[in-house]
Amino acid sequence: MNPARHLVLVGPMGAGKTSIGRCLARHFGLAFVDSDHEIEQRTGTSVTTIFDCTGEAGFRARERDTLAGLLAGPGSVLATGGGAVLDAGSRRLMAANGFVVHLRADVPTQLERLARDRSRPLLAGGDREATLHRLAGERDPLYAEVADLVFDTRHLPAADAARRLAQQLDARWQRGTGPLRPTEPTA
Ligand code: S3P
Repeated sequence: MNPARHLVLVGPMGAGKTSIGRCLARHFGLAFVDSDHEIEQRTGTSVTTIFDCTGEAGFRARERDTLAGLLAGPGSVLATGGGAVLDAGSRRLMAANGFVVHLRADVPTQLERLARDRSRPLLAGGDREATLHRLAGERDPLYAEVADLVFDTRHLPAADAARRLAQQLDARWQRGTGPLRPTEPTA
């Protein structure tokens, strides 16, 4: 058992973090929070515009600040953006405050689920398949570094995936109710 206030979902675009996260939040009676949505609320603009205006580095800094705020708040199911693990400060925050689940999906599954999506700046233009393979190569070791549990979402509708994952979490995740754990500075 790993006590933690938040259930944090990491994994690549199209792994099902939002759809599975919503089902899990209902199951556990917790609020569901999507960090991209929260960043957009806080900045009043879209993820795409933040990438355009400040580059990926600017987005990652906002993402880390947003995660710090959310993880300091009441327990939640928190879906993070696929690249949140790239930032060492974000990784520390997740590991210190959450039970972290790596939702896995292979590239063919991602391509299928994201076929009609035009909202991800990293997939705009270019060869999507090659991009997703490159991102997986860079990020898979980082997902592995932070994950308390790995769950494969291939071939599973979100509700089924959430049901199976909830069973595993019932045995593995002890929901923390105590005071917030202090976190290191994130800079
Ligand atoms: C990104 C994934 C997106 C979003 C942004 C960058 C990434 O979130 O944070 O477009 O770097 O993989 P989802 O994983 O929810 O699509």
